[in-house]
Amino acid sequence: MTQVWYTVTDWLNRRRALDGRGIGFVPTMGALHRGHASLVERCRAENEIVVASIFVNPSQFNDPKDLERYPCTLENDLRLLESLGADEVIVPTAPELYPNGYCFRVEPAGDAPVMEAAFRPGFLQGVMTVVLKLLGMVRPDRAYFGEKDYQQLRVVTDMAREFFLPTEIVPCPTVREESGLAESSRNRLLSPEGKEKAAWLFRALTTAANPDQARSILQAQGFVVEYVEERWGRRLAAACLEGVRLIDNVPAAETERW
Ligand code: PAF
Repeated sequence: MTQVWYTVTDWLNRRRALDGRGIGFVPTMGALHRGHASLVERCRAENEIVVASIFVNPSQFNDPKDLERYPCTLENDLRLLESLGADEVIVPTAPELYPNGYCFRVEPAGDAPVMEAAFRPGFLQGVMTVVLKLLGMVRPDRAYFGEKDYQQLRVVTDMAREFFLPTEIVPCPTVREESGLAESSRNRLLSPEGKEKAAWLFRALTTAANPDQARSILQAQGFVVEYVEERWGRRLAAACLEGVRLIDNVPAAETERW
């Protein structure tokens, strides 16, 4: 049976009782879908204890409207996590996770900001900060992150290495609908027609000869494109449809197969 912890203090007491057990962790912002389910399933298969968190992290939203309309489906999420065999779920509040406000922050320094860092100022900083806090609270052996948020996955992996965190960051493949659309909590904000059209993001990434062509395909379908770029052996894009911001990426090699 899944145990749910609504305060950090209660969770930290519970965590002490788990010392010595093999712990896997899936951090989420709720509004769970098949992509999250695949992370929990993998975590279940590889660890003695499965811990998940549900926390819509305000510090990673640069647009307050985006935060306001982020879907919140706590009851369904808890039911799903129970059915997937999660042992512990942490549902902390912002004042508990940020007791001094947002006064300690982790941020990637160095190169000029690109992609998510350029288009969502403060996003990577917010993600790294909350992930560091959550990893400190859970102290897992492994933590599971989806490849859909590829830049996030990279900075979290780099941060864990740079700070000698004792947690292995495990990358997990993107889960897609039959149409190719990557599973995302934001998909439920799209109209049925929008959802059909949204599959063009994957189609454009996999069929275009180059990023410029992918951009043109997306624009022709009515997307407002933020970026299409090739880096780290991937082709990555962010674009808005019906005012909903969608991101996706595919291995660059896959773009040659299509
Ligand atoms: O990918 C997400 O859902 C979030 O960015 C994460 C990793 C849970 C941090 O808030």
